[in-house]
Amino acid sequence: MSRMSIRFEDIKPLIGSTVHVDRRDELFTEEAAKACRAKLEERGVLVFPQLNLDDEEQLRFTDLLGERIKLTRDSSTQETDEDVYQVTLDAKINRQPEYVLGTFFYHMDGITVDMPPPFATLLSARRVSATGGETEFASTYRAYEHLPEEEKRAIADLKVRHSVASSLRPIADAIPEADRERVTSIGVIHEHPLVWTHKSGRKSLVIGSSADSVVGLPIIHGRALIARLNEWAGQPDFSLRHKWQAGDFVIWDNTGALHRALPYDFDSGRMMHRTSIAGTESVAA
Ligand code: OGA
Ligand code: MN
Repeated sequence: MSRMSIRFEDIKPLIGSTVHVDRRDELFTEEAAKACRAKLEERGVLVFPQLNLDDEEQLRFTDLLGERIKLTRDSSTQETDEDVYQVTLDAKINRQPEYVLGTFFYHMDGITVDMPPPFATLLSARRVSATGGETEFASTYRAYEHLPEEEKRAIADLKVRHSVASSLRPIADAIPEADRERVTSIGVIHEHPLVWTHKSGRKSLVIGSSADSVVGLPIIHGRALIARLNEWAGQPDFSLRHKWQAGDFVIWDNTGALHRALPYDFDSGRMMHRTSIAGTESVAA
């Protein structure tokens, strides 16, 4: 094996690594992608400061890391390759800001779509907001691992119903009344085990804003449990806040972490380019 100059540096004890390469082209190899993929599962989030990828390079790295997927059907006037989604509140580009407003709340990507949850999401910061717009990540592996044994036992066999309607509930008031019913009544419900036993044997929680209710529990009891687990996962030891600089590139393990953006304004100019990688396993108990 050739000697790799890629280096990983822990950001916090339980989550996050900064990735350093001497020359950026060293990233575009099978070997580097394999190292990143393994590190991603271990650390949840990889931060590549000021990498300044263009779309072609981001897609090239995405393809090296896994199978590229298109996650969000577009309602926007997209200026990019169809596999690069523009995350923005700019009304000239994004005419349906609901889904981007939904990113202000901890969630997993693609958990209500009919496919294994995407393994990773990749974001390049093109323009940052002067205020807000940081992204926070919360490890659902760490959240599970550190639960008291008694609580692990109590939730072991629970199943949770996830829906788009649930992820949009916190922002429903911001949707014009004429559209609200249509947008929030997307009725597809996906049931997932609350505790995901990955093929690796590690376990994580499947939670976030899409988690609506717990099968077999009174609705409010289930929501209270989900709310407590979301708060638990977001505690400082298990979470990380990334303050973006233009050109930063961040990847996270969407199967083992929640993420959310800190609120930013419609006219902030913030623009992120997103790509996604297919998951290789369905949520399993
Ligand atoms: C997303 C997302 C967070 C951010 O694009 O899926 O949640 O900080 N983005 O823009
Ligand atoms: Mn997201």
